[in-house]
Amino acid sequence: MGVVKATPEAIARAAELIRRGKLVAFPTETVYGLGADALNPEAVARIFEVKRRPRFDPLIVHIADPREVEGLCERVGERARLLMEKFWPGPLTLVLPKRRKVPEIVTAGLPTVAVRMPDHPVALELIRRAQTPIAAPSANPFGYLSPTTAEHVYEQLGEQIELILDGGPCRVGVESTIVDLTGEEPELLRAGGVPVEELERVLGREIRVSREGDRPRSPGQLPKHYSPRTPIQLAEPGQAAHTQLPEGKRVGLLLFRAPGVALEGFAHVEVLSERGEPREAAANLFAALHRLDRAGLDLIVAELAPEEGLGLAINERLRKAASSFKRAGFGTPSARADDKRKIRGDPG
Ligand code: TXA
Ligand code: MG
Repeated sequence: MGVVKATPEAIARAAELIRRGKLVAFPTETVYGLGADALNPEAVARIFEVKRRPRFDPLIVHIADPREVEGLCERVGERARLLMEKFWPGPLTLVLPKRRKVPEIVTAGLPTVAVRMPDHPVALELIRRAQTPIAAPSANPFGYLSPTTAEHVYEQLGEQIELILDGGPCRVGVESTIVDLTGEEPELLRAGGVPVEELERVLGREIRVSREGDRPRSPGQLPKHYSPRTPIQLAEPGQAAHTQLPEGKRVGLLLFRAPGVALEGFAHVEVLSERGEPREAAANLFAALHRLDRAGLDLIVAELAPEEGLGLAINERLRKAASSFKRAGFGTPSARADDKRKIRGDPG
């Protein structure tokens, strides 16, 4: 059926497909999701097949009302309530102890489940009409760039999905922030659409960043991913335009903000935000990377964002995109030892 504009009729049809155990791609404010009935293990199994995602990488369960959390999670607690009240609907995912009702395949056997209420009318209407929570990873093949338009989904997964609801480009453009609330202290598992500084302000405390080597709470999290097929080389803010171009190669440039200097020799240039505005840059990130990846380049030089707010989410994705190519002989500047930079991987 391919891509269909997200009219009320199309959403109703999509909800019916979800109820029948089929897959539907749908827009959220962060990225497009590949959804199935979260309470139907066979339907969820197809998500893993279509994405070629390893079964050990758990999925996020999407709900349309904060009250649904109680049905899926145990011991929800004050911190969770505070964050839900402040940031839902929105790009924040909470990891909480799961109830029996949540199938093992959704959580990859973990005793916890990740839940979020997306801030997108199409996603919310789809969940409501399906009358079931929807498990959904980003609608990309495992390890590849996340989709922020319906066309991205179609190009990557195409006919394997029964229906792709087109709700236009995603407003936030990077995935949700993931916070684990099952331990003594809240832990950041992934930087994303809600800046961690805002979470800290609301909780009135620092949020620990989960580091590699910690107990494997999210076993699927690998250092690589969000990767284009073209090798990526990172540059510190302001340095990208001065990169020495390798002889005879087609090099593309991904800039966080407009360069102060004239650019020479680059085959394709993308500027995420002329004025260097992190929100705008995040919203443009994946679409720019998709275009660069289609431009027939030998190398993409990508400028990192300033290391704060949404800049953290942007940089986390650029570092992971770059890390798969380190061994191929392309240099990347080493991340500073700062805690916030060493967030565990997010592969899917
Ligand atoms: O913005 C988003 O979060 C998008 C949209 C579609 O909602 N979804 C998304 O899903 O990014 P995905 O599957 O690409 O990334 C979900 C991440 C994975 O890295 C997974 O390991 C982690 O969430 N995760 C899921 N359940 C978890 C759990 N119980 N404990 C820890 N991490 C979990
Ligand atoms: Mg993903």
